[in-house]
Amino acid sequence: MFKKFSRSIRWRIGNQARGKRFAASPVWPALKSYENRPAKNDLEEFFDRNIDGPGIWKWRHYFDIYDRHFSKFRGAAPTVLEIGVFSGGSLAMWKDYFGPGAKIVGVDIEPACKRYESTDVRIFIGDQADRDFWQGLRREVPKVDIVIDDGGHLPEQQMVSMEEMLPHLAPGGVYLCEDIHSERSSFASMVHGLADTLNNNRNQTAGTDPERRTVVPSTPFQSRIRGIHLYPFVAVIETNELPRTELVSTKHGTKWEPFLS
Ligand SMILES: C[S@@+](CC[C@H](N)C(=O)[O-])C[C@H]1O[C@@H](n2cnc3c(N)ncnc32)[C@H](O)[C@@H]1O
Repeated sequence: MFKKFSRSIRWRIGNQARGKRFAASPVWPALKSYENRPAKNDLEEFFDRNIDGPGIWKWRHYFDIYDRHFSKFRGAAPTVLEIGVFSGGSLAMWKDYFGPGAKIVGVDIEPACKRYESTDVRIFIGDQADRDFWQGLRREVPKVDIVIDDGGHLPEQQMVSMEEMLPHLAPGGVYLCEDIHSERSSFASMVHGLADTLNNNRNQTAGTDPERRTVVPSTPFQSRIRGIHLYPFVAVIETNELPRTELVSTKHGTKWEPFLS
């Protein structure tokens, strides 16, 4: 057992080391820099206009990630929960971006953040690492479309929050965790474990049609999760609108080369 275990760990470390060597190799051509991109999206524009008033504190490259995963919710009155209120500016940014009818929920450990509550913004004071806190919040906020974790940034806080809130997301929802940087982030490592689960094909069924391969998701997680995305310092997990009951590979067409059977 131990031998098998250590071989699988050696295999993983070896492949990860290969990825790191590839990333560090000189094959990557020099291109025009990101700072010279032609257009900013609405979130970045809002951020740049926000030169006084309640503060927003974000890495600039996050605006592109937000827009990529959140734009489908604009004008659709989503419920958006951000962990980490701080000075309230990001809550105003979400309100502006998602438009009328959006419900914004802020979570912070600091009671002073309660002052950012308003008609469309609810604030919950609590510790994101406290499972009882999340249980209470889920009762009060039964539907959440988006979670943005910009709270304490400690891996244990990020892990507990995701364990408590990812299964609670509405179908088609998005879970985004910020500031997972460092190659030794145990949260990032946990996300790699989730990605392995998403890639599991153990339940492949051999049907009667040799041209049709089917994998039945091995866990509710594999059936519920649409995708896992990694960016510099950010992980995004999206859920399916409808759970997948099978993953199917089929061939369509009548003309085929002879070299693959
Ligand atoms: C980086 S700031 C949030 C920035 C804000 N989202 C913005 O964009 O301007 C982090 C916030 O997380 C809060 N925080 C720290 N530890 C926390 C915890 N365990 N649970 C909930 N909030 C926490 C801090 O009080 C702080 O207001």
